[in-house]
Amino acid sequence: MLAGKRILLIIGGGIAAYKCLELIRRYREAGAQVTPVLTKAAEQFVTPLSVAALAGRKLYRDLFDLTDEAEMGHIQLSRAADLVVVAPATADLMAKMAAGLAGDLASTLLMATDKRVLIAPAMNVRMWQHPATRRNRATLAGDGILSVGPNEGEMACGEYGPGRMAEPAEILAATAAALSAGALAGRRILVTSGPTHEPIDPVRYIANRSSGSQGTAIARALAGQGAEVTFVTGPATVPPPEGVHVVKVETAREMLAAVTAALPADVAVFAAAVADWRVATESGRKLKKDGSGRPPVLDFAENPDILATVSQMAQGRPRLVIGFAAETDDVVAHATAKRARKGCDWILANDVSPATGIMGGSHNTVTLISATGAESWPEMTKDQVANRLAQKIAEALA
Ligand code: C5P
Repeated sequence: MLAGKRILLIIGGGIAAYKCLELIRRYREAGAQVTPVLTKAAEQFVTPLSVAALAGRKLYRDLFDLTDEAEMGHIQLSRAADLVVVAPATADLMAKMAAGLAGDLASTLLMATDKRVLIAPAMNVRMWQHPATRRNRATLAGDGILSVGPNEGEMACGEYGPGRMAEPAEILAATAAALSAGALAGRRILVTSGPTHEPIDPVRYIANRSSGSQGTAIARALAGQGAEVTFVTGPATVPPPEGVHVVKVETAREMLAAVTAALPADVAVFAAAVADWRVATESGRKLKKDGSGRPPVLDFAENPDILATVSQMAQGRPRLVIGFAAETDDVVAHATAKRARKGCDWILANDVSPATGIMGGSHNTVTLISATGAESWPEMTKDQVANRLAQKIAEALA
């Protein structure tokens, strides 16, 4: 579980800091890589030398250490980890985190990180029970900060009660749990995928060449990050992913009904290639040649625009609505206009002119268009596009 994981360990200034030496040893035994950061106060309790020796790596201490900034800036340091662990999380560090202060290296890293944060609080029982700490605890929990402990027991200051830092074994278990829960755990996400089939008569229909592979990859990536995914799919050629709630539909109108039924959701991704038109006069019987030599005339009616409908919902609109734009020319300009017209937050635009082989192929070259502009991604597999999108979504919701 911990093997190969990178942990940024911020050691706060409390007597429990000595337990971090044991924690570092345990992390390393489990195969994790530990990058330690010491606050100034922590240096009063453990020596930088013993921490660095046990971690087997350089430790970081000062925000304004120019050598470190040249080697690895604090932003990069905060992101080059899979998880940030704060142990012991003192009352002071927790207050800084809750207030969003960034006056030293530890607090700056905590503000700059895009990773999950696990804290192991440790402090005197009165400080733990103080209304200010209670408020900060609630704020941090609301911000999605995970925590382990404190335990109740005899404290170094002679008092008894909650405030003892969790034992290294407990922090190890909480670390493993935090690393296994994906960045989208607890999020409800709706994904549409595949083509739609619009019937002409009981045996014929109008369709398009969408295989459903990009939508399927997106649903798989989101579920892999722990999201609860409802996957509304038209008749795709690729099978739906594991671990999602699959709703199979045929037509655009059925897709809209399934989408509406799946709301509310935190995010909606509309990857389906929905037919713009349906045959208005669908025949209940198979159309036959009547011997006159005249072809049948089909009347068309416009299908509901599912993406626009959800984007423009007055109530219950998902926080993030993402559409696709399959274009054959002037991709960014058309997709930017489409984003405004539909009212969605992001558009993933791609060039589907036949020469690109994107329709039904395994690769995709997309440009992400949002309110802040266009971001072009290099050519990658549809799975890679999906993983990158899942990561972007997690960042946007964080
Ligand atoms: O307008 P256009 O079909 O190019 O827009 C593409 C985007 O709109 C895709 O995200 C697609 O899933 C969505 N769409 C929809 N309902 C429609 C047509 C398109 O949700 N009827």
